[in-house]
Amino acid sequence: MKKVFVIGIGAGNPDYLTVQAINALNEVDVFFIMDKGEEKDDLVRLRKEICERYIKDKSYRTVETADPPRDRTASSYERAVQTWHEQRALIYERLIGEELAENECGAFLVWGDPSLYDSTLRIIDQIIARGKVAFDYEVIPGISAVQALAAKHKIALNRIGRSVHITTGRKIAEGLPNGIDDVVVMLDGDGAFNAIDDTDIDIYWGAYVGTADEILVAGKLRDRVHDIERMRAEAKARKGWVMDTYLLRRHGA
Ligand SMILES: C[S@@+](CC[C@H](N)C(=O)[O-])C[C@H]1O[C@@H](n2cnc3c(N)ncnc32)[C@H](O)[C@@H]1O
Repeated sequence: MKKVFVIGIGAGNPDYLTVQAINALNEVDVFFIMDKGEEKDDLVRLRKEICERYIKDKSYRTVETADPPRDRTASSYERAVQTWHEQRALIYERLIGEELAENECGAFLVWGDPSLYDSTLRIIDQIIARGKVAFDYEVIPGISAVQALAAKHKIALNRIGRSVHITTGRKIAEGLPNGIDDVVVMLDGDGAFNAIDDTDIDIYWGAYVGTADEILVAGKLRDRVHDIERMRAEAKARKGWVMDTYLLRRHGA
């Protein structure tokens, strides 16, 4: 039987790899690396660095494949993402079917943790449902950007006995969720925090957390919003892409 590992590699620092992830890396014959366009160089480099650093027997193979582009002009976001996942499922199916021999082990290295805003597990489910290739798979957790952000700011995400809400910039642009005072925001391409005019909110913001480019800012949202927007724009101009995550916390709640 073929085997596929879905390995969480942490959100940017090679030291975030767990012992379980390192053990899994050392069983892999073929790494499937998806080329994601402009972020590619940095992210592909990190994945290669991780392999170089942690794998003792260097006889593994690497197969790089272009990630199909998502239609960013589509009227339905959900439909566009669904189509994109279907296209990726066909590619992953081909990789597992053609690039992996029987009894070999393949791996997808997933940024952060595979359970959080990552489509790999949904795509694996689709491949299994199609029934064209047979394989076992195992999921290895990783340190997500959310955990890395909390550690860097030295904060607990929840307050005692309270909830934490994790959402996207797209959702937060529609307004803060009712009755929740601690909200983690990911995938915010447009800086949705800019539009929040609530004066009682603190922000704990981090870009490229865990990497050499890391930027951290914390304070009252109203006081820090322009600094964050400027640093974000400068970082994006310098690197071509930005990855940031933040906690919005209603103070005194
Ligand atoms: C497609 S999601 C992947 C999340 C990932 N699976 C995780 O567990 O962190 C990409 C988003 O994660 C966040 N992110 C990932 N790495 C980050 C980092 N090093 N610093 C800040 N945010 C990061 C950003 O919000 C980015 O838009």
